[in-house]
Amino acid sequence: MTQTITNEYLAQTGYLIEPAPVDEWRHFDENDPVPAYFQFDWFSSRHPDLYHKFALSTEALMDDLEQIVDLTGRIVADIGAGTGRGTLRLARKARHVFAIDPFKSVLDFNRRLTERAGLTNVTYQREPCAQISLPDNAVDVAISSWAVLDYAEAYRITTPGGYLIFMGSCPGTLCGELTATLAPEYPTIIDSVASAEVYDPAYPTTEVEVAGGTWNGVPLAAPLRVRDFTFVGDYGTVDEAVAVLGRFYGPKAKKYLQERAQSSISWRLRIEYCRIAK
Ligand SMILES: C[S@@+](CC[C@H](N)C(=O)[O-])C[C@H]1O[C@@H](n2cnc3c(N)ncnc32)[C@H](O)[C@@H]1O
Repeated sequence: MTQTITNEYLAQTGYLIEPAPVDEWRHFDENDPVPAYFQFDWFSSRHPDLYHKFALSTEALMDDLEQIVDLTGRIVADIGAGTGRGTLRLARKARHVFAIDPFKSVLDFNRRLTERAGLTNVTYQREPCAQISLPDNAVDVAISSWAVLDYAEAYRITTPGGYLIFMGSCPGTLCGELTATLAPEYPTIIDSVASAEVYDPAYPTTEVEVAGGTWNGVPLAAPLRVRDFTFVGDYGTVDEAVAVLGRFYGPKAKKYLQERAQSSISWRLRIEYCRIAK
């Protein structure tokens, strides 16, 4: 039977799940996978090499973010840092990065990545986003990329006038262009489906200001800005796209890519960013 990973189970293990050997994720029972499809935290902690291959969209988010927020010389918290695609990019620009994640195996993977790149300005903190062991006003920028965020805690650790940034997908595009195909099978995970046109690489980038002095309870020094753009992530070969996306999302994703002989999927990504007031 498929093992379901609950928050209670993770708390019991102390988030100390052992990583599987590299590439072990390629062998699994398609009808009864462990971890089950969509169990993202369990995937990234058990198979960090798989998550790292999958996470091309984080590079795209970082590319775009660098155009809109100058990270040079800043102190940054990468909250839900995972295997480090974002951390590595941040550490190349920032003065210091605190990489925060409750799972040991992803932080170990992340640490090896930054060490191999010769970066010495990253501190790793194994803890959840709701209990960050940094003093008030410790960072200039708090970022969450494809991860849960405790807004009150992120606000607490960010300096007055600093940036709070939340990055991931637009509403209705959780699995990129696979969203419409997967929605009927996963109605509790995918609760809305955007129109297909947003995945056209020529679909325009938009940026809007949202009126209001707060964002998720956080007081703002300037309006929240919401930026949406389309990105096509290419996994190199059809077989590799089928392997990576099929493991995360299941046989329907695999079939979709095989039928179209497609090595890529298109994403509609969103960056929400603001400066906070204290
Ligand atoms: C989808 S991954 C994103 C990783 C990385 N930010 C990226 O963009 O590649 C989500 C990450 O959030 C972490 N996570 C899960 N629960 C968390 C929590 N309560 N606080 C902070 N991070 C958490 C997971 O371990 C995982 O590494």
